[in-house]
Order: sequence, then structure tokens, then C-alpha cells
Amino acid sequence: IAYQQGAFSKEKIAYDDEQVGLDDQIIINFSHVVAENTPKGMAAKKFAELVEEKSGGRIMVKVYPDGMLYSDYDELEALLDNEVQMIAPTTSKMTERLPSWQVLDLPFVIETNEQLKAVLTGELSGKLLEELSKLHIKGLTFWSNGFKQISSNQPIIRAEDFKGKQIRTMGSDIIKEQYRKLNAEPIPLNFDDVYYEIQNQLIDAQENTISNIYSKKFYTMENHITLSNHGIMAYAVMMNENFWNSLTEEDQQIIIESLEEMQEWQFELAERINGEFLEKLYKEPNVEIIQLNEQNKKQWMQSVSPLYEYFNQKVNGTYFNLLLQDID
Ligand code: LMR
Repeated sequence: IAYQQGAFSKEKIAYDDEQVGLDDQIIINFSHVVAENTPKGMAAKKFAELVEEKSGGRIMVKVYPDGMLYSDYDELEALLDNEVQMIAPTTSKMTERLPSWQVLDLPFVIETNEQLKAVLTGELSGKLLEELSKLHIKGLTFWSNGFKQISSNQPIIRAEDFKGKQIRTMGSDIIKEQYRKLNAEPIPLNFDDVYYEIQNQLIDAQENTISNIYSKKFYTMENHITLSNHGIMAYAVMMNENFWNSLTEEDQQIIIESLEEMQEWQFELAERINGEFLEKLYKEPNVEIIQLNEQNKKQWMQSVSPLYEYFNQKVNGTYFNLLLQDID
């Protein structure tokens, strides 16, 4: 494994930073957990290019992909400690601290890329970003990674097929509850651990986007892929708040403009990469791609339907209404 977690330490960042040389150089260390050839990996690189270009090389964004610095939950701690200045976790990973963010985990609500774009740029997403200030984090924008599918070691076609299965999930209560409603057992795990867990047959299935299933080779072991589009995956692009406040207004503007400039490109990238990797999976002789038919989808939706009422009543009815409004 080229990027052993921990092989790139804080000392390594400090050493690299010292080598830069320019007096007024600003370094933004950006850590993430996915492969470089994915919608988040490529977006992080594009962002670095734009910021460097707009600042004439004065601001450098150094991207550390593949969890080489920090795993899912450590990266948030690292951001809060200003060990790194930027991360872009999946929104589901913020829900322990900000339960209302589970609104984006509700299954089968956002159904098209157009709706996803509308939500990630709409009123709800603005409110979600503002909530980050409670954690002393500066919320910048959202990136997309499209829709989640299921990869599994046995075909999952009907809702009953989930029964008794151990499913890797991210740590959001709504996602975990979704699988309990399907009589499966959710196993929350860090992204970095998924490959190992599949390899050692410790989980039966997991939900993820095609770009993650393909780039992390989950399909080589879990070779039944159900195209369910049951949930979305979005990334909250965020910065350490003190670091943000230490930047001049002009430099803040460079960051904001770079993100704005690439927003539409990023949404299209997510659609394109997931589509291209799906084409590649279709060509894999040992991979079975299962299209969920309407009847099976309905059954599945019926099993998880109590989640809407639960979220509405117990978590945040206002956000649920905003979500419905944004996709309308
Ligand atoms: C996962 O844990 O499956 C994803 O959140 C990974 C990612 O960042 O896309």
C-alpha cells in the first residue's frame, strides 16, 4: 500500500511547509479519504490549481488523499486542531455532532441529479453550512458524489434479501435505522476499514457510490451491485475557522471564487465519473449489476418509510420541509 496511514505525519507537513520559502506563502493542507480519481479527489486537485493560479502561487493547497494522513473521524479532529486546514467529509459523518444534517441521509427523497444540484446549492444547504459555526468550522460549499448503490456478496434484489445481513454504513443514525428497518444489521465503519472487512468476510454488503466501489476495488470481492440510487452522497467542504479568520479578505475571496467557479464542473464531474466507472463495471466478467425494478423499489421504500415521520417529528421538521421545497 503506497499510502500507509500515519506514514505522512504532522512532522512531514511541517517539513514540507518549511521548504516553500516565500515569506508570505500560505499553505492550506487538505486531507481526504478517497482515491484521487474520484469526484472528491479530482475536485480537491482542481481547487488547489485554481487557488494557486488566482493567488499567483502565494496560496498553496496541498492535498493528501486516500486517508494517508487521517481516517474519517480523525480528520475532523485534525481540522478542529488546525493540524490540517481543510477537509470535505461526507455530510453523514457530521451527523453525530449536528443531528439535523441527517436530513441528507433520508432515503429515496432526492431522485435526480437536477434535484441533487438544487439541494446542494439551495436554502437548506445554506442553513447546514451555517450550522458548522457552532463547531467553530467555516462551511464553504458542498460537492457531490451522486447516488449510493449497494455492493454485496450475495445478490440483493428484494427488500427481504437484506434480512440478517451485516451492512457497513457510515455513522449516521438515519442510515443505521434504514438497515434495521430492512431487518439487517448496520455496522458503522471508517472508510479505510471497508476493504479489509470485506476481504475478511466480516460484512456482507455496503452502500456507496460507484466511484468509491470502483476506485477502492470493493467490487472485486462484493461482486453483486444493486443500482438502487437510494441515497445521495454529498461532501461538505470546510475550513478551520481560526485559520479562515486569519486570512485577509482578499485571500478569502480567492477561495470563495475558486469554489464558485468550479461548482458546476464538480457536479458534472460526479455524474461523469460515476457513469464511466459503471461502464467499466459492466465490462467486468465477474460482476453482476442488478437494476432495481419498480416493484422491488416500492417494497424497499415501504420498509424505510417510518424514517420520514421520525425525522420530521424528532429531529428537524423545518429542514425536512426545506428539503422538499428545494427539490420541487
Ligand atoms: C464512505 O465512508 O463510504 C464515504 O464517505 C467516503 C467518501 O468520502 O466518499
